[in-house]
Amino acid sequence: MTERRRGSHLCSSLVTSSPHDEPAPRRIPRHQVVRRLLATYDDPRYLEVGVSAGRTFHQLAASTMVAVDPEFRFDHVAAAREHPHATYHPVTSDEYFGTVIGRDDKFEVVYLDGLHTFEQTLRDLLNALEHLTPDGVVVIDDVRPPSYHASLPDLSQVARLREAAGDPTKAWMGDVYRLVWFIDTFCQQLTWRTVANNHGQAVVWRQPRPSVTERSAREVAELPFERVVLDQQVLRLARFRDIVADFRAWRGLPPES
Ligand SMILES: C[S@@+](CC[C@H](N)C(=O)[O-])C[C@H]1O[C@@H](n2cnc3c(N)ncnc32)[C@H](O)[C@@H]1O
Repeated sequence: MTERRRGSHLCSSLVTSSPHDEPAPRRIPRHQVVRRLLATYDDPRYLEVGVSAGRTFHQLAASTMVAVDPEFRFDHVAAAREHPHATYHPVTSDEYFGTVIGRDDKFEVVYLDGLHTFEQTLRDLLNALEHLTPDGVVVIDDVRPPSYHASLPDLSQVARLREAAGDPTKAWMGDVYRLVWFIDTFCQQLTWRTVANNHGQAVVWRQPRPSVTERSAREVAELPFERVVLDQQVLRLARFRDIVADFRAWRGLPPES
């Protein structure tokens, strides 16, 4: 059945630690990750799934900007008047990809930050790839949950566990992390890195890999939280500046000055 939940979300935060003998890399905010990727194109088109209050969306500039969220936390009609290059769709991502997007609409940069479940984000990724330019990039938010309860897909269970544990943090990432394992096993045409110096955003582009890691679909769908900690190498953590360098090299762009 198609996921049509209109969940309400808590934006998560996690400061990543670094080894004691190295200075911690500067933490990069989510909007700067997207902004720097947009800056690698001359005239980028941008799609954001899950926009909330527009804290990322309204800090970016692109000639075409598309916002999708069933519950915008701002007046999107007024925003459309203020930002003529932007369009705002108050629908779920499934509705947007199913009935709103034009068949030929393409984007260079897509940011997936909607409903934080593995199944929904997988569907968002597959739909986004249909509309991604060959040299495009997808950013998937929240693939590195900081705790067991932050990794659960059911938000009401998260709230109960958080209260029982006396955890004052609001972090909720759901089981989106499973998507990284899915890509590793089932999307050989894609390459990814996860930003180490923020809360955990996967940056994904169309670079084929010579091999995949064998896993069953069931294993990926049921992958427990502890694998995020114990098999961290699957996330392919890297400083954002190194991710940008890899991505630029793949596209044949000169290194950033
Ligand atoms: C974490 S917030 C987005 C934060 C925003 N990207 C930012 O950087 O500030 C998640 C948003 O996803 C939206 N959402 C929930 N279910 C959705 C769905 N099925 N499709 C699209 N957006 C959805 C929620 O309404 C919420 O506003």
